[in-house]
Amino acid sequence: MTDERKPDHPIDPIFAERWSARSLTGETMPESDILSMFEAARWAHSAANRQPWRFSYALRGDAGFERYVDFLDDGNREWAHKAAAVVIVMARRQTRPADGTAPRPIGTRAFDAGCAVQSFTLQAAMLGYIAHPMAGILPDRIRAGLGVAEEDYDIEAAIAVGRLAPRDELPERFREREKKSPRLPISETAFRGGFKG
Ligand SMILES: Cc1cc2nc3c(=O)[nH]c(=O)nc-3n(C[C@H](O)[C@H](O)[C@H](O)COP(=O)(O)O)c2cc1C
Repeated sequence: MTDERKPDHPIDPIFAERWSARSLTGETMPESDILSMFEAARWAHSAANRQPWRFSYALRGDAGFERYVDFLDDGNREWAHKAAAVVIVMARRQTRPADGTAPRPIGTRAFDAGCAVQSFTLQAAMLGYIAHPMAGILPDRIRAGLGVAEEDYDIEAAIAVGRLAPRDELPERFREREKKSPRLPISETAFRGGFKG
């Protein structure tokens, strides 16, 4: 861990060790590893336990892998094409009541999906992988490619998963940013007994 990531209070080291590197090796990965990441995501908390997250993924070596890389915008494709897996994260927009009552919007769907992604990325870190979330995606292409109806699901993000490669293997313009970023101090984000906006 770098000095930039020295926690001020005791935590499990994995929270600060996880980071969103871009330099990936281009290796393949066993499906069992990504299934462990989905398993961790599965146990995330969600409002009313609705679990609105959905994932669609391809592993390097799958016939459709390049199609998933092409779901990313140009800036992300430039480095994420070396991922071992590309995961698309979606969130269900409405409930599906079993009792025949009218569906209701799931207002917490993005929050819930974010919780699941955090579990996914931490499990990835525990297994020695980088799992890098990306909002820079092409939602229209994803909808068309995967057959995802706009009225049913939001397209939230993608995740590039892979093994860390040396920084020098990145295209030049990404190298400067390839380091663990710092964080705001807790004094700027958590307020006991009140709030400072
Ligand atoms: C919702 C979300 C969207 C993001 N989108 C991108 C992206 O499109 N491209 C990218 O390179 N990184 C993206 N990131 C990674 C963030 O820049 C990164 O998580 C942040 O700078 C903190 O760094 P760390 O993950 O290394 O701790 C995204 C992260 C999140 C959570």
